[in-house]
Amino acid sequence: MADNPIPVSTTETGAPAPSDAFSLSVGADGPLLLHDHHFIAQMAHFNRERVPERNVHAKGGGAFGEFVTTEDVSQFTKAAVFQPGATTETLLRFSTVAGEQGSADTARDPRGWALKFYTSQGNYDLVGNNTPVFFIRDPMKFPHFIRSQKRRPDSGLRDNDMQWDFWTLNPESAHQVTWLFGDRGLPRTWRHMDGFGSHTYMWVNAAGEKFWVKYHFKTDQGIECFTADEAAAVSATDLDFHRRDLFESITRREFPSWTMYVQVMPYADAAGYRFNPFDLTKVWPHGDYPLIKVGKLTLNRNPENFFAQIEQAAFEPSALVPGIGVSPDKMLLGRMFAYADTHRYRIGPNYEQLPVNQPKVPVNTYTFDGPMRFHYTPGQPVYSPNSYGGPAVDEAAGADHGWHSDGEMVRAAYTLHAEDDDFGQAGTLVRQVMDDAARGRLAANVVGALRGGVSEPILARALEYWRNIDKDLGDRIAGLV
Ligand code: HEM
Repeated sequence: MADNPIPVSTTETGAPAPSDAFSLSVGADGPLLLHDHHFIAQMAHFNRERVPERNVHAKGGGAFGEFVTTEDVSQFTKAAVFQPGATTETLLRFSTVAGEQGSADTARDPRGWALKFYTSQGNYDLVGNNTPVFFIRDPMKFPHFIRSQKRRPDSGLRDNDMQWDFWTLNPESAHQVTWLFGDRGLPRTWRHMDGFGSHTYMWVNAAGEKFWVKYHFKTDQGIECFTADEAAAVSATDLDFHRRDLFESITRREFPSWTMYVQVMPYADAAGYRFNPFDLTKVWPHGDYPLIKVGKLTLNRNPENFFAQIEQAAFEPSALVPGIGVSPDKMLLGRMFAYADTHRYRIGPNYEQLPVNQPKVPVNTYTFDGPMRFHYTPGQPVYSPNSYGGPAVDEAAGADHGWHSDGEMVRAAYTLHAEDDDFGQAGTLVRQVMDDAARGRLAANVVGALRGGVSEPILARALEYWRNIDKDLGDRIAGLV
């Protein structure tokens, strides 16, 4: 009623609800009745309130915003979202990786950086982290890696022994582990950290020329980190510190922003580059490929409903648009399958129709029916080709995402480039990026973890691992542990 701001409570089918306080019983003290459908409906729906949490990156938060392309990078990509002046609505979800839904935001872990651009050519998802590299370079290892970071099957406990066993047996992890145990492994807030696409992607311009690119989002708030002690103190009082910080800063209209840059490698450089440019454990030194500014991302709108807009958000590296493609990075190629598959399991095969995931452009697909499908085009044929005006492919609209490839089918590491190795860039990070105080904090953080239940022979291997990264640092850790 117009003069009554409180709406009438209804059943799921819209009729006035009989009661939200009392179930129907035979006399005030008697048994309950099966035909009290409203009570049964409340109970049954409550029992189904949860969807499975994300297998990784379960704990997170996010906000909506916009991306404005301020520069002209059209010589590298024809993607509409990156044409000069384009303004695109976005959703950014931050997360930790290993913890469950209720876990502490301030744990030492990479932070997820899942960015959805609702572009005029369909949704483009850039699903990255706050780190430019990753622990492994072959997707076959990912489930093993994650299990080693999560909980033991017997005790249900997290276990440093498992973590370091995996890391030391997979020395390609050295760069990411060094990064993780350094200061940036504990960002003060999500606003005070950078974001990275991490992988190498392909950009294609209007003339069909291809480039290899890496994405960087530099925080305009400045980098700020917690020490291990500060993070532990915050975790003890507020498990949701980062989620709260983001929500409250946007409520205060303090809108966080990031400037987006790309490193661009000419297509032909890849084969002869000094290390494999598709190896996710490596960065491209800025001296080789400088940062090129693209635009600005600003978060300015909180979710109104966390479940509908953040829990049900589905990000996938396979959501690409013309002008942007994947690269021979095997991790990225493995991820092309994983995400849409897990969404079908977690939130259903028609997850793209959930409002937060819907593109802002018409969808004319031949996928059909299935649980909770509600989008359909009246009169559209369900097969292709057809003689009845069904959607037809516009071959000129898509981008050519292919690259030259030939050879035997093998299970093998990447072909070696001159400077490919596991420890080199980790050592550079220790010696050239960190100062002595930062190296001291890194050593203390590692010692804290190794003392937390890492047994022989894994402990000895861990000391060797750190000596391989940097001899002095390894000796320092060995002296303290
Ligand atoms: C989430 C798989 C590597 C960033 C997820 C999820 C899965 C997954 C299954 C849960 C998605 C959901 O339920 O919505 C994999 C596999 C990988 C891989 C198989 C390697 C083969 C990476 C890498 C990055 C990354 C290298 C970053 C560069 C993320 C982020 C999320 C996520 C940010 C959270 C997305 C969100 O906020 O909803 N991953 N992942 N993943 N992954 Fe990965």
